Amino acid sequence: MPVTIVVGAQWGDEGKGKIVDMLAQSSHMVVRYNGGNNAGHSIMNEYGEFVLHLIPAGIFNPETYCVIERGVVIHPPSLADEMNALQERGISLKRLVISPDSHLVMPWHIAEDRGNEGDVPIGTTLRGIGPCYKDKVGRWQALRMGDLLYKTDFLKRLDVICAQKRSELTIRFPNNGNDFPVLEDIRRSYMDATEKIVPYIKDTSALIRQNLAHKKQILLEGAQGTLLDVDYGTYPYVTSSNTTSMAACLLTGISPRDVERIIGVAKAYITRVGDGPFPTEMKGKQQEELRKTGREYGATTGRPRRCGWLDLPLLRYSAEVNHLTEIALTKLDVLGTLRRIKICAAYGDSPHLLGSMDIRNLQNKKLRYQHLYDGWGDLNGIRFRDELPEQAGIYIKTIEEDVGVPIRYISIGGKRKEIISL
Ligand code: IMP
Repeated sequence: MPVTIVVGAQWGDEGKGKIVDMLAQSSHMVVRYNGGNNAGHSIMNEYGEFVLHLIPAGIFNPETYCVIERGVVIHPPSLADEMNALQERGISLKRLVISPDSHLVMPWHIAEDRGNEGDVPIGTTLRGIGPCYKDKVGRWQALRMGDLLYKTDFLKRLDVICAQKRSELTIRFPNNGNDFPVLEDIRRSYMDATEKIVPYIKDTSALIRQNLAHKKQILLEGAQGTLLDVDYGTYPYVTSSNTTSMAACLLTGISPRDVERIIGVAKAYITRVGDGPFPTEMKGKQQEELRKTGREYGATTGRPRRCGWLDLPLLRYSAEVNHLTEIALTKLDVLGTLRRIKICAAYGDSPHLLGSMDIRNLQNKKLRYQHLYDGWGDLNGIRFRDELPEQAGIYIKTIEEDVGVPIRYISIGGKRKEIISL
């Protein structure tokens, strides 16, 4: 069973990019299966510091195929920019492959996102993600990667849909409905991007099938996090795709029987960008301090992330929803800089395992905290579990015992080598 899935176990920004970058060293293929350039996967390795939005974090291993699968929504100009930026820094794209079935984010999607956020904010990244997925399931006004292969037909449909969207959005948002470029500019920027992207559009399912047949190691890379999943998250304060492990199989065509490992990446504390309930959110100075030490600013939008204590009920929920086989715990070093550390052990009135009704009512939960630890300070240079300070060791054990899933990796710094395998 050669397949490993990596998912975010919280509200995104857990450090998946870093874990995928590490695991890609021994993977034959990395497949990104959901989301768009709302994601920002930060990576620090021998090539330097990077933030990837659409390209799989396996791209730094030149032997690894990097596939953008059908569940991803792609803004072609942004993808072309990301590709150029990587190439300029000497990263090869020769094994990048893009599904013809992935959908295109168009300028009107971004305008609609902005219009909606002006009315009833969810706190989106304003990248047009929700409106693009809406058109995908709506079907009539959708464009896909494969359409770029037929330039004349693509431009014809582009013209028609652009005119429809302009009038629809002008009615819905009279003040900013026309807030997207004129047709000529859209045509130009999409055709420029097409030139760059088209050579990479290939039959991704055939490639995945071949690799499975040869029992090659395949890594499925999720974007965002479990609590942002459109079906399992804190709706409506979620993203518009399925971020959880089950979606990985659906959107790559891989059988669940081929999956061996499901790794949930969780921060040692918890963060969230955008609106929505956040039971363990810290207050005032403490939150600011952690944000500053952990550099908790959105990798895509630069927005300050909200910070809070680790929430075990939510992590248990995430383990259950994703069927996690292991956890990668990140930023243990950052948490250890705080003087006193606590952990949310339970929600007073809820059962051990949260259900849909609990997720609907997160904001009203009474929290039971364990005041557990003194900060453990510097973790610099530590390479093995038994070298960890006692308090950090107890923290890890508490999580493992409570969630019932082993912690397989901990990260104690930004670089690839600052990951300890337990
Ligand atoms: P959207 O995905 O841009 O529609 O945003 C919906 C919600 O998901 C907002 O709260 C965003 O802040 C959040 N979100 C989307 N992508 C990410 C991510 O990669 N990390 C963290 N939060 C995200």
